[in-house]
Amino acid sequence: MKRRILIADDEINIRNGLAAAVESEGYEAVTAENGLSAWNLIQTQGADLLITDLRMPLMTGSELLEKVYASYPTLPVVVLTGHGSIEDAVKAMQNGAVDFLTKPVNLDHLFVLIKKTLRGRDIEEKNLELQRELDSLKKKSTYSSIIGKSKKVQDLLETISQVAATKASVLITGESGVGKELVADAIVNFSDRKDKPFVKVHCAALNSNLLESELFGHVKGAFTGAVADKKGRFEQADGGTIFLDEIGEIDKSTQIKLLRVLQEHEFEKVGGEKTIKTDVRVIAATNRDLEQEIKNGNFREDLYYRLNVVNLKVPPLRDRKEDIFLLATHFLNQFCEENNKKIEGFSNNALSAVNNYDWPGNIRELRNCIESAVVMCRGTVIDINDLPPAVSRAANAGDIVIPLGSTMDEAEKKIILGTLNYCKGNKSKTADVLKLGRKTVLRKLAEYEQ
Ligand SMILES: Nc1ncnc2c1ncn2[C@@H]1O[C@H](COP(=O)(O)OP(=O)(O)OP(=O)(O)O)[C@@H](O)[C@H]1O
Ligand SMILES: [Mg+2]
Repeated sequence: MKRRILIADDEINIRNGLAAAVESEGYEAVTAENGLSAWNLIQTQGADLLITDLRMPLMTGSELLEKVYASYPTLPVVVLTGHGSIEDAVKAMQNGAVDFLTKPVNLDHLFVLIKKTLRGRDIEEKNLELQRELDSLKKKSTYSSIIGKSKKVQDLLETISQVAATKASVLITGESGVGKELVADAIVNFSDRKDKPFVKVHCAALNSNLLESELFGHVKGAFTGAVADKKGRFEQADGGTIFLDEIGEIDKSTQIKLLRVLQEHEFEKVGGEKTIKTDVRVIAATNRDLEQEIKNGNFREDLYYRLNVVNLKVPPLRDRKEDIFLLATHFLNQFCEENNKKIEGFSNNALSAVNNYDWPGNIRELRNCIESAVVMCRGTVIDINDLPPAVSRAANAGDIVIPLGSTMDEAEKKIILGTLNYCKGNKSKTADVLKLGRKTVLRKLAEYEQ
């Protein structure tokens, strides 16, 4: 859709001249001969950019600016000033104009200014659209805080809702930081054990003796320090669900006890003789390859099959790139609120970096990245410089960006260095891609080094 530019000036020649110029650049032009008629047009037709003269009958540009700023704060306004009235321009900028142009208008300046201003508007709209998408996604997902529109995540949610109703054990697998714990939460929320106890045990955090007593409890005197009877986590979870995180880390003797709980639904406390019956649904998670651990003799095969009745694989973030912007926007909202900051969204460059980066630490890494960006950010938009270096380096990995106003030499340098980077420093390949002689490339590179 064409962007609409509203031009308000009482001099017909300027008005029509500017309208013809912007139309020749592919925009839609609408004109007004004074501030009042411009104000009516904004209210009835809307505009993406307002270019206005200051001295006009009926309503001056300053009055118009004031009204626009109060009612349409996101509509960018550029003011036109006559020669020698720079104070007016400065005043207009203080009142919210994004820039000014002096008459007679230099058309090249005008076009650069329009592009720059509308780019800001594109960013704004893109971020607004992300917010809207995020809101509607959140409305739909009552039982889970898993965010994602990718087919992979939607399929995962579908499976979660199917398995939630059963009592079957679930093994959640996936790389670190993909959201395994969130999946466990969602299973419980979807299930009819939702209001029953939900106990989480981080198996890697405890050594094997402690883990055994943590899971199954102990009786007084079972070991030094066991001064009283203690209920284990399985007993606490009775009637509900237990989440065994990092299940791949538990040792062989605990594995045997766990197998018995899964098979017979019973266990004894450490040092105890009484058999305790339990009704607990087990959800386990690991980022290890348990089949490999079985081959290496570290994990019991029978336990594996008991745990793995249902297997939920949570895909890494790099395999569901469609979710990245939504997640980034979600974390942006969260950390803005926590830090009492007002940031509207991301610049195009920042989005491109976030999109190109590989996210080896998955969603946890993305979350940390956005948290630090929010803290670093001084403006109203997260820019590429606010991102951690590893991420910002990924910007434009597939693009060469040549800013408006660059000279041919600067553009050429960007193209050659960008391609060299893309070819991982291989100069012959760079010459091939650019269809240049190798010697030319070498000469240019030597020039850039000076
Ligand atoms: N789809 C998602 N939507 C929103 N937040 C998510 C999503 N997936 C993960 N997160 C967030 O990312 C962080 C990491 O998720 P989680 O702790 O569940 O990962 P994990 O797979 O258990 O990692 P690890 O293997 O390291 O324990 C958490 O803060 C979690 O809330
Ligand atoms: Mg985890």
